Amino acid sequence: MSPTATNGTNGANGAAAPPVQAPITGNEMLEAAHAARAKAISTLPDESFDWRITLEGKVIAITGANRGIGLGIAEVCLANSAKKVYSLDLLDPTEEFAALQKKFPNRLFYIQTDVTVESSIQNAVDTIVEESGAIHGMVANAGMTKHQPALDFSREQIDKLFNLNFYGVYFCCTIVAKKFIELGIKGSIVMTSSKVGDGPNRAAPSAPYGGTKAAVRNIAKTLGMEWAKYGIRVNTISPGFVKTAMTYYVETAPDWDLKMQYYGGMPRLALPQELGGAYAFLLSDCASYVSGIDIPVSGVVGAW
Ligand SMILES: NC(=O)c1ccc[n+]([C@@H]2O[C@H](COP(=O)([O-])OP(=O)(O)OC[C@H]3O[C@@H](n4cnc5c(N)ncnc54)[C@H](O)[C@@H]3O)[C@@H](O)[C@H]2O)c1
Repeated sequence: MSPTATNGTNGANGAAAPPVQAPITGNEMLEAAHAARAKAISTLPDESFDWRITLEGKVIAITGANRGIGLGIAEVCLANSAKKVYSLDLLDPTEEFAALQKKFPNRLFYIQTDVTVESSIQNAVDTIVEESGAIHGMVANAGMTKHQPALDFSREQIDKLFNLNFYGVYFCCTIVAKKFIELGIKGSIVMTSSKVGDGPNRAAPSAPYGGTKAAVRNIAKTLGMEWAKYGIRVNTISPGFVKTAMTYYVETAPDWDLKMQYYGGMPRLALPQELGGAYAFLLSDCASYVSGIDIPVSGVVGAW
């Protein structure tokens, strides 16, 4: 205690004298300023938060959500009360996309976007904020693969994979992070990596694809570290085998069931929706202390 402070002892007339506050020291002022700043950027939810895993009130962008895994994530986000979900996709919406729009009226939208072009991503993010007043989450999911032996890959083919799977993801992250910072939003970014980011896919080899997926998993940790001070969380999800256009080769392999049996893990492909819960959690405020991690959703495949 400072020498000027008292315990509020009795005065000359016997009445209790008001306690005299110790003058605030420079250090205390600094600590108070730090505490206020930390509170402003902390991901800690408000005191009124009820700890339900919910996306209530949240506006979420998902790249490549016109079909496949992106559309599955969109469905689970909407089922978990997301206010609006925007698909940023290159192709025209599919019938499945239209059906989901019908199921969740005025909550699922499409903005034609090429995530390999920075101005296109910027336009999409600006449009979302103009229309909805905010953006709270970005799922950088659009990606492609090419299956062939490593010795056969040309530079051009590898560039194409990195252009979408790495550069596309990278600039989705930085563009939305700048928007979160500008708007003072404690946003969440989730990238779709792959179990192939850990090692080979024995069913359909693609060394450069695995490289792109390992790369996004790596940068998520650094971005999470760099942007923690802005209250932005960055994580990845690594699917195993999911039933989409990307696993076309399954249909062409008559012995697939047998292969799956001996591959290890659950002997079936996942439905895209089965990944959605992990995304919804990471996008929600319940994940307020979760950043820089990868969640494998792979039915044990690749866990060895
Ligand atoms: N399917 C699997 O088994 C599997 C497993 C692990 C990881 N993944 C990853 O999941 C993600 C989604 O894969 P999927 O299986 O749903 O693939 P998909 O081909 O069914 O869907 C990809 C979507 O991305 C869109 N897209 C492509 N290029 C784009 C661009 N330049 N700009 C915007 N959108 C673009 C496509 O139009 C499509 O709607 C990918 O990153 C993929 O690598 C898939």
